Amino acid sequence: MKSFKRHLITSALPYANGPLHIGHLAGVYVPSDIYTRYLRLKGQDVLSICASDEHGVPITLKARTEGITPKEVVDRYHELNKKAFEDFGIAFDIYSRTSNKVHYETASDFFLTLYNKGEFTEKVTEQYYDEEAGCFLADRYIVGTCPQCGNENAYGDQCEKCGTSLSPTELINPHSTISGSKPVLRETLHWYLPLDKYEGWLREWILEGHKEWKTNVYGQCKSWLEQGLQPRAVSRDLDWGIPVPVDGAGGKVLYVWFDAPIGYISATKELTPEWEKYWKDPDTKLIHFIGKDNIVFHCIIFPAMLKAEGSFILPENVPANEFLNLENDKISTSRNWAVWLHEYLEEFPGKQDVLRYVLCTNMPETKDSDFMWKDFQAKNNNELVAILGNFVNRSLVLTNNYFGGIAPARSKTDDYDEKVLSEIERIRNNIEPSLESFRFRDALREAMNLARLGNKYLADTEPWKIHKSDPEKVKTIINIALQITANLTIILEPFLPFTTKKLRGWLNCGKFSWAEAGRSDLIPPGHAIKKPGLLFEKIEDDVIEKQINKLRASLKTNNDTGTTVIPPKETVSFDLFSRIDIRTATVLEAEKVPRTTKLLKLTIDTGIDTRTIVSGIAEYFQPDDLVGKQISIVANLEPRKIKGIESKGMILMAEDSGGKLVLVSPAEKTGNGSIIK
Ligand code: 2FM
Ligand code: ZN
Repeated sequence: MKSFKRHLITSALPYANGPLHIGHLAGVYVPSDIYTRYLRLKGQDVLSICASDEHGVPITLKARTEGITPKEVVDRYHELNKKAFEDFGIAFDIYSRTSNKVHYETASDFFLTLYNKGEFTEKVTEQYYDEEAGCFLADRYIVGTCPQCGNENAYGDQCEKCGTSLSPTELINPHSTISGSKPVLRETLHWYLPLDKYEGWLREWILEGHKEWKTNVYGQCKSWLEQGLQPRAVSRDLDWGIPVPVDGAGGKVLYVWFDAPIGYISATKELTPEWEKYWKDPDTKLIHFIGKDNIVFHCIIFPAMLKAEGSFILPENVPANEFLNLENDKISTSRNWAVWLHEYLEEFPGKQDVLRYVLCTNMPETKDSDFMWKDFQAKNNNELVAILGNFVNRSLVLTNNYFGGIAPARSKTDDYDEKVLSEIERIRNNIEPSLESFRFRDALREAMNLARLGNKYLADTEPWKIHKSDPEKVKTIINIALQITANLTIILEPFLPFTTKKLRGWLNCGKFSWAEAGRSDLIPPGHAIKKPGLLFEKIEDDVIEKQINKLRASLKTNNDTGTTVIPPKETVSFDLFSRIDIRTATVLEAEKVPRTTKLLKLTIDTGIDTRTIVSGIAEYFQPDDLVGKQISIVANLEPRKIKGIESKGMILMAEDSGGKLVLVSPAEKTGNGSIIK
């Protein structure tokens, strides 16, 4: 296998026409960040490049919908997205933008080089023109009736109702969304990259030369190549973009997919005067991290552009991920079915690594995957808190308690100690091949096995039971626990950079290199550590319910009366419904649960018994207002301990789509314990 002197990592440039969501992170940016951090830990020469993609129809459409200029759109979202990346620790060396001067120059020069080499073909075609607005219309600016299903609002490139891909001339009754007028066909000249000319070379380069690419990537390339490649227009009639740098090309701009990947080059240029070393020396390994919808552009079109230009290297690998769904449904900006990064940070401050962790354990590496809020909670509580947090806390607290915060030396080790020490190295060796081949889920699972190992080691050796009777043994145990903790700061660094930074602070040590992982002498005897804080905290049910409700509320639909309601849940059987015992009851006493803001403790007469129910309604009701009220309860809900109080049942509330809560009470007073059916 060829060894490279340096790495150039690019991550797909997100359009600056909206905020980033978890699908972006899981698909592209967490993987590219993990890989980049790993290479940096190995001491490799690596640059990580990204920027906002600020041209193309997506931007102009957003500007029209909001009644602002495209420039205002990109300025707003560039800043928002740049901040979101920083906040989530996505450590690009540069996050640039394609509206920068250096990019205009680089993209124009690139086009001119190809133009002057005679690499383009020119073709005159007929395109829809809006005579009232005085401009050609991009496909998305034309709507009409779908010839397949009759949907009157089909776009010039696709009918979103039946999914058919269309060309604008197939629409029945087309009209312009700019002026509403009926467009006319007009001749227009464009420049084409003759991809057909590169087909043979692409076959050889990808199908023969890169059999190691991920199957989803290789498969898509194969199918494109098998269908045969056609010349592709690299210019558009649009007033937003980089002007085609050729005389007489007024009103025409570079196609966004021509300029955007050149953005990787411009951003590198902006970052370092040594940019050519990264783009032109075959000893550089170029890797593009992208989502599956970008495969053809990065594996076929951009490489053909680079080949035509002649002086650039080609990507060694293009690890594309599939898509992340949310709660069993496609993430959709227009339906607001998404978890937005800036909102997540407001609602879960300081919990960036929890999201990074959950997204990585569930990354759509080989097929689409699903983000579920319940799974997020379970992985936080059962893995980050119960395994990683628990182990680290124990080893640091015990060092402080038994040895005044000074790392003890290992004295005599037994077979179990030796086995644990050798496991550290084995785990590190297992992670490396997974990281090298972009199998980040496997790599993280293995890294967490080290925390599992540490947890089990402490649980088995129980130093808290023997620290008086066998202090020498306890020194050995704590020393080993500290070595494991130090190793965790290395092998978890690519995945959980905020956590490992905290850990290094508590361990009072600097950053170790990847080469040091696996060693059992990272924390020398006599080394002073600090007092630890809490690494992760438990996430309660109500926090998760709130997120699920928020999502459901974002799907508000208009009902017949014009009010908004949340769509119905899925159908359940009569049998399932009839097993739920709903009764009337009366509130006898109500009081706030101390040291909580949301919980009320209610004593109620159910007709069957007098019992306690803890309910999260303190923000909506004063305790005194509830006393004497007749209410409805689920009487046979499994009892639960909430803040140490046993809660038996649940109070029924009606919540409207705006989140307002009212009690569900019988219309007339009735006996307590009456069955509601
Ligand atoms: O799909 C997208 O969001 C594009 N903006 C990706 C561009 S990647 C690169 F080529 F610039
Ligand atoms: Zn249709």
